[in-house]
Amino acid sequence: MKHVAVYVTGSIAAYKAVELVRALQKKGLTVRVAETKAATKLVGPVTFASLTKHSVLVDLWDKSAEGHVPHIELADWADLAVVVPATANVIAKMANGIADDAVTAALLATSAPIAIIPAMNSHMWGNPATQRNINVLKQDGRLLMEPATGYLAEGYQGKGRLPAVSAIANFVETVLIADDDQLSKRKVVVTLGGTREPLDPVRFLGNRSSGKMGVAIVRAALNAGATVTIIAGSVQVQLPQSPHCQIIKVTTTEEMATAVNQELNDADVLVMAAAVADFKLASPAQQKIKKAAGRSNYQLTLVPTIDILKSAGQRKRPGQLVVGFAAETNDLIANAQKKLANKNADVIVANDVGGLHGAFGSEDNRVTILQPNQDPDKWPLMSKKAVGKRLVDLIAQLLRKEN
Ligand code: CTP
Repeated sequence: MKHVAVYVTGSIAAYKAVELVRALQKKGLTVRVAETKAATKLVGPVTFASLTKHSVLVDLWDKSAEGHVPHIELADWADLAVVVPATANVIAKMANGIADDAVTAALLATSAPIAIIPAMNSHMWGNPATQRNINVLKQDGRLLMEPATGYLAEGYQGKGRLPAVSAIANFVETVLIADDDQLSKRKVVVTLGGTREPLDPVRFLGNRSSGKMGVAIVRAALNAGATVTIIAGSVQVQLPQSPHCQIIKVTTTEEMATAVNQELNDADVLVMAAAVADFKLASPAQQKIKKAAGRSNYQLTLVPTIDILKSAGQRKRPGQLVVGFAAETNDLIANAQKKLANKNADVIVANDVGGLHGAFGSEDNRVTILQPNQDPDKWPLMSKKAVGKRLVDLIAQLLRKEN
């Protein structure tokens, strides 16, 4: 079982560390906790000790703590150190190698990877000193999770909130638990969400894609040890944060095409899970379109967008895999077979989006897998998470064959 040392420091969000300890334990991790003196004012060590069944390291000179030199013992025990919530003060100390209490001394002594999850007032976060320290820690190879934006304890909106406990637990999981290493040293590019084509400065043509299927693929690829680039259009879900995952946000099809083209240079796999607009306005209005009095209809002239999957299929080099989706409301297999051939894809995941809503936004998906010169492989109705995992297994298997 992997060991996680959780270092709790004196931010109001310290109470969320209690939930995090539980969430990490549920993922099968063994957790021990150290707290700064300030953190103990917010959550007492007894709480963490009861949850973890280990004493909590607070004082460098505590005779009752585990081991002869307790901070070194904890530092050496851990497979991963997680500083959560991390205050601006502890971040500043870490960036400068200061070790004036049990927490900072153990953090200086550990050779395990260190993940830092800051939570603080938005002005503290934005302070140039904090940003300078964060950059130093990044350069030192520390794994940083960006704070969330939202309602702060101070009663106003700002950036500095601790991310959701589930997102932190997933972050820890991607650092620590790879299901297997079948995609290690592989770069996977996943597009997800929907593209939007502007009509005028305030309106756009869009679609119902939520991004859930793409996120499931990203998580599965990360768990298989891949490095992932997400190219995200508009989404209704939280995108995974991981040190092995970078996110490029785009709006239009053209922006997505440019990002894909760039990222494909050194990618092993492209998965086009995005719902891409097929048409855009010939010339979007520069000013907001007015509903001129008496006008009984309004004509839009649309022109085709670039087919991103098709151009990726055309330029792919030997050993590179291109995976597309086919969203169909009728003649699923026949239409998807055409796409497989037209776009020179290695795999098409055919998706029945019949009905007004179909798979969009749903937790489950029923797909059929098409590959050149093979019979369609119909997968049963599964959660999107399970489809993602199985698709990643298939991708890994194909990569092994190709290389
Ligand atoms: N796709 C793309 N670029 C586009 C349109 C679609 O890369 N301009 C990709 C999608 O991400 C998906 C695959 O092509 O992986 C099939 O998308 P789909 O919308 O099902 O089909 P289209 O190619 O757009 O064809 P049609 O709308 O006629 O069904």
